[in-house]
Amino acid sequence: MTPWRIVNSSPSRTGDLRDSASLPVVTMIGGGQLARMTHQAAIALGQCLRVLAETSNDPAAQVSADVVIGTHTDLAALRKAAAGSSAFTFDHEHVPTEHLEILVAEGVNVAPPPEALVFAQDKLRMRRKLTELGVPVPAFAEVRSTADVAAFADKNGWPVVVKAIRGGYDGRGVWMPADAGEAEAIATEQLARGVALLVESKVPLRRELSAMVARSPFGQGAAWPIVETVQRDGQCAVVIAPAPDLSDELATEAEELALRLAADLGVVGAMAVELFETLDGRLLVNELAMRPHNSGHWTMDGSRTSQFEQHLRSVLDYPLGDTAPVAPVTVMANVLGAPEVPHMAMDERIHHLFARFPDAKVHLYGKGERPARKIGHVNVMGTDAADVRTRAELAAHYLSHAEWTDGWDVHG
Ligand SMILES: Nc1ncnc2c1ncn2[C@@H]1O[C@H](COP(=O)(O)OP(=O)(O)OP(=O)(O)O)[C@@H](O)[C@H]1O
Ligand SMILES: [Mg+2]
Repeated sequence: MTPWRIVNSSPSRTGDLRDSASLPVVTMIGGGQLARMTHQAAIALGQCLRVLAETSNDPAAQVSADVVIGTHTDLAALRKAAAGSSAFTFDHEHVPTEHLEILVAEGVNVAPPPEALVFAQDKLRMRRKLTELGVPVPAFAEVRSTADVAAFADKNGWPVVVKAIRGGYDGRGVWMPADAGEAEAIATEQLARGVALLVESKVPLRRELSAMVARSPFGQGAAWPIVETVQRDGQCAVVIAPAPDLSDELATEAEELALRLAADLGVVGAMAVELFETLDGRLLVNELAMRPHNSGHWTMDGSRTSQFEQHLRSVLDYPLGDTAPVAPVTVMANVLGAPEVPHMAMDERIHHLFARFPDAKVHLYGKGERPARKIGHVNVMGTDAADVRTRAELAAHYLSHAEWTDGWDVHG
């Protein structure tokens, strides 16, 4: 028999994988870029990440050999994805908590467990829990009726931010009304749609930071250096690791806060604690994400252990990896779809990019180009934060727009 016949006679690609390797299967709910990059880390550990994806064209479904097609609100699809897996985890926080509780009762190893995940799913419960734990957060209140927004602002002052309690991402579900009239209109419209809302003080920010940690069921915790995150239009655009000019005191405070929260909430897996650094030098928690996070993409090239590998290690209760940075500075810049798709094909843009910046590390997600859509990111390492940031932003903009914002000319 010729070798190709032997290969072709195998029962299925996934069946082979499990028989030959006896390595665990991790299930991730959601087929987006976070699952795609987690699969990339799973490959190195001899695994194949099983993903529950909406379509076979989702970023992770394109690359994993173990795909369940279905939606995260369908309990039957969740059960199918969970069958036989060692750990059941997420690339987003939108699975209904009650479905997760049923899966746990059926013996599925949901990581993070629903009692912890709920604080990443529900911004009101998160604000209340953190307050209870003595962790500083912006002043906030639940919005049960339109009048609650004005009542909160009268007490705490303008400006305020109105937020959907559940389901927001990339700034969708966050409104910053200019005045009382606009606030009332937003609240009226969203409440009529059945969107549960909270209102909070708009914090005078010096900048935004993120504390990324991971925790295993054994209780081991690991923290990466605190990073600065730059948002544009409510969406993460750039991450600088470590955060430039952050005092040792604030860095230690942020790191200890994140590790303590992970332990107190019983988190399993990676967790990002999004932080506001106020103008007067205090830290407030904005929100929690219990999964790999945009603020941790720099670790793919800039740390000994990437957040994706660490997430897998955590949910499988493996010992955690070394989080030391491999360069003094790493900057991540998101590749966001341009307002109009450039004529130059992405393949050609990559040629030009690599010609100018041979050291830029490109990560593309297999997504179509649409305005402001996250389609990839670039990591650049170096020693000077300003210089590294300039190069990372030039590179990311070039990939999305096919133009150099500094006027650089390949023939010049
Ligand atoms: N209370 C606030 N004061 C000042 N700025 C705020 C406040 N809340 C949110 N923002 C700004 O809006 C951005 C998005 O808010 P938030 O993180 O709550 O929304 P999200 O859509 O869940 O975010 P993500 O993109 O992380 O999923 C924040 O990163 C910050 O720039
Ligand atoms: Mg956020």
